[in-house]
Amino acid sequence: SSTPRPLVAGNWKMHGLSASLGEIEAVAGGYDAALREKVELAICPPATLLERASRLLAGAEIALGGQDCHERPSGAHTGDISAEMLADAGASYVIVGHSERRADHGESDALIRAKALAGLRAGLSPIVCVGETRAERDAGRASAIVEAQLDGSLPRRAAPDKLVVAYEPVWAIGSGLTPTPLDVAEMHAAIRARLVIHFGTGAAATRILYGGSVKAANAAELLRVKNVDGALVGGASLTAKEFLEIAEIYR
Ligand code: G3P
Repeated sequence: SSTPRPLVAGNWKMHGLSASLGEIEAVAGGYDAALREKVELAICPPATLLERASRLLAGAEIALGGQDCHERPSGAHTGDISAEMLADAGASYVIVGHSERRADHGESDALIRAKALAGLRAGLSPIVCVGETRAERDAGRASAIVEAQLDGSLPRRAAPDKLVVAYEPVWAIGSGLTPTPLDVAEMHAAIRARLVIHFGTGAAATRILYGGSVKAANAAELLRVKNVDGALVGGASLTAKEFLEIAEIYR
């Protein structure tokens, strides 16, 4: 099986009002046919912008994603959004288990697995996030932590090409700090090995994204590492210019 097309996904987090839709239009405008062949783009805006973003992206072959979903398809869950609702709004991806949700909302591996399954049930590709804290890395436990998160939060049965894993070291998120390319290579190899244990040789089809302070200036160095199949970009995805510059490394 051939290596999948890399994915560069923008996670807008709790940023973006109507005015930001112009950035989505600008990304669409810069994503030409040649670049489309080399790299897939996705934008995960806040839920309030999904419908309008979906209309802007429809013609541009840029995917839309949610930032979280509830594990159930519908019900009495005030404030929550189901994977089915995201799909209905035009999404094809959903981020689950972002470290900010693990920290702010106490999400467990088991809940994240249920959310990933909900995404698959609704026809979405879940982007399952894992990553160690600074203290865990300093204690030499980074790969053990990430492997335990994978074992606890990946769906046990899934088509590997429908799954995306994002390695986001917590200490690299929004900090301007990044692991070295060697650290990234080691962790992504460990993640691939874990995926092979879960899904067999088909695991080559699962894209493993790197996330954490990716910007235009460091994208080439971080994303050309073996077993890095794209990026999950936070701050640098908020402006079309920088987001496109990151994608451009694949041209
Ligand atoms: O999900 C993306 C993320 O957590 C990285 O954020 O701002 O460091 O690119 P940032």
